[in-house]
Amino acid sequence: MSQDPWEFWKYKLKSPKYVSAPMVDMSELPFRLLTRKYDSDLCYSPMLHSSKFSKEPRYRKDMFSTCVEDSPLIVQFCSNDAADFLAASLLVQYQCTAVDLNLGCPQKIAKRGHYGAYIMDEWELISDIIKTATRNLETPVTCKIRIYQDDCRKSIHYAQMLEKAGCKLLGVHGRSLHQKGSLTGPADWPQIRLVKSHLSIPVIANGNILEYSDLDECIKKTSADAVMSAETILHNPALFSDSHPFVWDIAQEFLELCSRYPINFNHIRAHFFKIFHLCLPLLPRLRDKLCSAQTDLDLHSFIESVRSALFFPHDNDLRARVLLQQIKLGNGTSPYTLDADAITGLNLLKQDEDQSSSILPPWVCQPFIRPNYFS
Ligand SMILES: Cc1cc2nc3c(=O)[nH]c(=O)nc-3n(C[C@H](O)[C@H](O)[C@H](O)COP(=O)(O)O)c2cc1C
Repeated sequence: MSQDPWEFWKYKLKSPKYVSAPMVDMSELPFRLLTRKYDSDLCYSPMLHSSKFSKEPRYRKDMFSTCVEDSPLIVQFCSNDAADFLAASLLVQYQCTAVDLNLGCPQKIAKRGHYGAYIMDEWELISDIIKTATRNLETPVTCKIRIYQDDCRKSIHYAQMLEKAGCKLLGVHGRSLHQKGSLTGPADWPQIRLVKSHLSIPVIANGNILEYSDLDECIKKTSADAVMSAETILHNPALFSDSHPFVWDIAQEFLELCSRYPINFNHIRAHFFKIFHLCLPLLPRLRDKLCSAQTDLDLHSFIESVRSALFFPHDNDLRARVLLQQIKLGNGTSPYTLDADAITGLNLLKQDEDQSSSILPPWVCQPFIRPNYFS
């Protein structure tokens, strides 16, 4: 289908500004709905395998679900075959706003399966996948890429090739294939800006988002049309609304969404590890409780335990401030009763505090800042 990219952007995607990234095992329906509630304008599904999706009904049922409120939505597939990508896309095209080709996955499994960033040098194959899908679908085709490190010209030509093939929107993660794991490092916003300036289609910038203020900064510095976050929204699903809710409130909301739209229990627990990431070192026994959780009831009980360990019912702000002050002053005495776990944890936190620029207490949603991130 031939469609003007800007009409698509404006009328189908509704000119989004804040975008929730595709994340394997994480950006499933309940999580997407949670981020939408906190001002995400557009969500991506997790990456799905086009070949399995088109051939295996069980995989389809287990891996993808949506609902009316889950819109606009881009469903992402990995693929190395035009027929597979088209077949998978045909199955979802009326349940989403666009289908996306993943050209950025750097994982070993993508190397073995020959997809994601491992096909980024095979421009003929990629072009064939996009052209075939564009010719046969009523839904626009989009792509998400990584850049070529230190080779802006190649990144620009790459992006132009995608646009020429029919890509209607480009997500640009400003890191290369090799920037992963311990080599992740900062994303290259100037390169995203260059790529954007050589395209006529909308661009979503991705990488380096820790705080709400980074969102506008990213748009300003890259001139992108929107900005995408992955890791930070896992830790703070309310990022786009410029808020830092209590971890127990967000976890509770997420669990409620999961009870309406069930997903794999291990994925729910994985979200809890992200949401409670700064509380768990404070409360080792509760971390064990989360590790051994088997049911929703266990998770509800975990939430209540964290809340009662860290929440002061009469004056929550006061307690937060007192605890934080103790952390900062290294003061062991407390007007409130903390269990032994909490005291050990708070001491640990104090050590971290010396290196961290964060001024938020650990029981509110906030980003994970990698050691040496700012150095
Ligand atoms: C848990 C996790 C799963 C991811 N899965 C996908 C995926 O399915 N498809 C994709 O294109 N990128 C995936 N990514 C990459 C993100 O979409 C994003 O490009 C990357 O994390 C950089 O953004 P960030 O700096 O905001 O984290 C994943 C990232 C994380 C943290």
